[in-house]
Amino acid sequence: MAAKDSRLAVFANLSGGWVPCSQLQLTETANTLIASSLAYGLNYLKRSNAIEIDPVGLGLSDRQAIQGVRLQPPNRLAFFGGIRDAAPDAWGRRVIEAKLKVPANSLPESQYLLHAGSERVGALDIRATLNDAPNAATGQLHTLAYLMEAAQRIEAGLPVPAQLDAIFINGTAMGGARPKASVRDESGVLWLAKFASGQDRIDVPLIEYAALQLGREASLNVPPVRTLQVGDRRVMMIRRFDRYWASTGELPTPHIPFTDTIPTPGAAEHRLAFNSGLTWVGCDESESREKSYGDLAEAIRRYAHPSVIRSDNAELFKRMIFNILVSNDDDHLRNHGFIWDPRLPGWRLSPLYDVMPRPSLATERFLHLGIGPQGRVATLDNALASHARFTLSEREAALLIGQVWGVVREWRVYFERDGVPDSEIELIAPAFRHIDTVSSHELRRKLP
Ligand SMILES: Nc1ncnc2c1ncn2[C@@H]1O[C@H](COP(=O)(O)OP(=O)(O)OP(=O)(O)O)[C@@H](O)[C@H]1O
Ligand SMILES: [Mg+2]
Repeated sequence: MAAKDSRLAVFANLSGGWVPCSQLQLTETANTLIASSLAYGLNYLKRSNAIEIDPVGLGLSDRQAIQGVRLQPPNRLAFFGGIRDAAPDAWGRRVIEAKLKVPANSLPESQYLLHAGSERVGALDIRATLNDAPNAATGQLHTLAYLMEAAQRIEAGLPVPAQLDAIFINGTAMGGARPKASVRDESGVLWLAKFASGQDRIDVPLIEYAALQLGREASLNVPPVRTLQVGDRRVMMIRRFDRYWASTGELPTPHIPFTDTIPTPGAAEHRLAFNSGLTWVGCDESESREKSYGDLAEAIRRYAHPSVIRSDNAELFKRMIFNILVSNDDDHLRNHGFIWDPRLPGWRLSPLYDVMPRPSLATERFLHLGIGPQGRVATLDNALASHARFTLSEREAALLIGQVWGVVREWRVYFERDGVPDSEIELIAPAFRHIDTVSSHELRRKLP
């Protein structure tokens, strides 16, 4: 099949308003993306508050050098990471296909990019032409029951009746494979609603909620989360960390999390740019398993704002320890993210998301990403041995391990507090690891 070129308009949301950012050209056959190129608009490059799509292949540190230049993706990739991060992933693709009534994965990438709608993650929107308006409708909390029913039908491969078609606007935008939709609460705050899936054998929304709350206890940076009962199903709600509210020209005070801001009269909704770890490590999704937390730490050293490198790497190290202790082995590169903080201004690690303990009977377990000299083997010794890659001394790393273990060892207490019934606690218990099973005597002697 002959390859075809399509040109798309990329918009960026700066200080709460959409502006044209760049022109994206995609060369594709029916369903394979062969190549892309992108040229930033000259007017965009003149804006003092212009943000880069990603710092890997589309950085704005030397604006002069890229004026009028058609940029190519780095590392011979077909796609720019920062654009792929604005594209729907497995779930959003299923929703778009259901809407257009076409088979799975049958559309060209440009179509998925165009159909994802403006509530996609981050600060970008991709539209057919510069004249197109944003398509940013989102559901309200009270529409969750419809969205959930529509999501179940799409999962089951059933047609979606007209009265449920709100899913086509609210359910396409976000990445990931599990059924989800974005909704606004009564005050206008945007949340990501994650639904149960037909294949779940445990109450995934409740366990993910409790696991994220446990992460917060372990002093990880976790956005507000809650659960809602919708009919006989539970929904996990995580606040969108890529949106905040502020009066024009004002920024939230440093150290106030963006997720603490709320819509008030006179305050506009703002967007934070988002990049995945996949983008920052600069590889194709298929190579994710060969990459490591150390690679992410290195990317942080290279691309994050200098003032946050140390703390972000300590946080990343703690997330790795947490994932080992709760067997969260779906910790692939897209489950790590970065946001552009206009207060720095610069990139920093995003709040934590997508943490799901996985019960297992295996004594030897692995995470998705490499941990240390022993590769992906999920032990604390392996993690501690990699301390230098996170710019941590062995002593500092041991302190962080002790902190995280001190909380995770009490997981049952926190899960009970968070309303996880005994039956679910027993089902999930084999995910949690005792320190004695994931560390040596020598390591434990080094802990505080
Ligand atoms: N709180 C949030 N705010 C903004 N964006 C988010 C938030 N949580 C997740 N995302 C984005 O949405 C994507 C999908 O969310 P998530 O990873 O939780 O879904 P998932 O379907 O469980 O993923 P997976 O396929 O990895 O299991 C993430 O990769 C991230 O880009
Ligand atoms: Mg995910």
